[in-house]
Amino acid sequence: MSLRPGLVTEPILLQVPDSAGRLNWAEVFGNRHPVELEIGSGKGTFLLRSAQAWRDRNFIGIEWAKAYAEFAADRLRRHNCLNARMVHAEALWWLRCHVPDNSLDVLHVYFPDPWPKSRHHKRRLIQPFFMEHAYRMLRPGGQIKIVTDHAGYFQHIEEVFRAQTLLALAPFISPLVGAQPLEEAGTEASLLVGSNFERKYIRENRPFYSIAAQKAM
Ligand SMILES: C[S@@+](CC[C@H](N)C(=O)[O-])C[C@H]1O[C@@H](n2cnc3c(N)ncnc32)[C@H](O)[C@@H]1O
Repeated sequence: MSLRPGLVTEPILLQVPDSAGRLNWAEVFGNRHPVELEIGSGKGTFLLRSAQAWRDRNFIGIEWAKAYAEFAADRLRRHNCLNARMVHAEALWWLRCHVPDNSLDVLHVYFPDPWPKSRHHKRRLIQPFFMEHAYRMLRPGGQIKIVTDHAGYFQHIEEVFRAQTLLALAPFISPLVGAQPLEEAGTEASLLVGSNFERKYIRENRPFYSIAAQKAM
């Protein structure tokens, strides 16, 4: 997939050299607002909804598909969401290299690829070592929130969550709760997170499974 003609990704697409090490969010965003990070942002629908609703928070999306990362960056720019950044990278690698300890308010993972075949389960994002990363990056009191439509993956995620002691299970509160109403808010009453896949799967009447966990204060 390649950059579509006409897309303008500056200044939203965040490109940092590998050598940059862990970033300073205040330098990236030019403010000290809380930072939330989404893994696997797709076309950036959740980020756009959130960045528009919460102008006093910063949002980062990491997306492996270049065309989607660029599409989302252009989309956020067109909506003047200067409190958002898109990253084109493999998430685990980028988190390890560039996300500082104790720096995230929320880690969002919505509709991660389920890798349904047994021989592919090892490719699933949510694994015991992933929880260690989440713990490292979240600030005290920060939360990880996950939603999936895939019952088998959800069972696996629950097992991973219950097998670890770094983060405590917490009630899943929709990230849309308390958001400033948008023009189309009336159509959003039933949304859990407002991502593209959620909107698509609602039309297919799929069930959704959600889970959250919190780092101790
Ligand atoms: C099923 S889609 C969900 C997209 C979006 N979260 C939504 O709910 O509409 C999963 C997305 O995660 C991206 N992705 C999967 N593994 C990734 C990784 N390791 N790093 C970054 N992005 C990844 C895929 O390219 C894809 O766009």
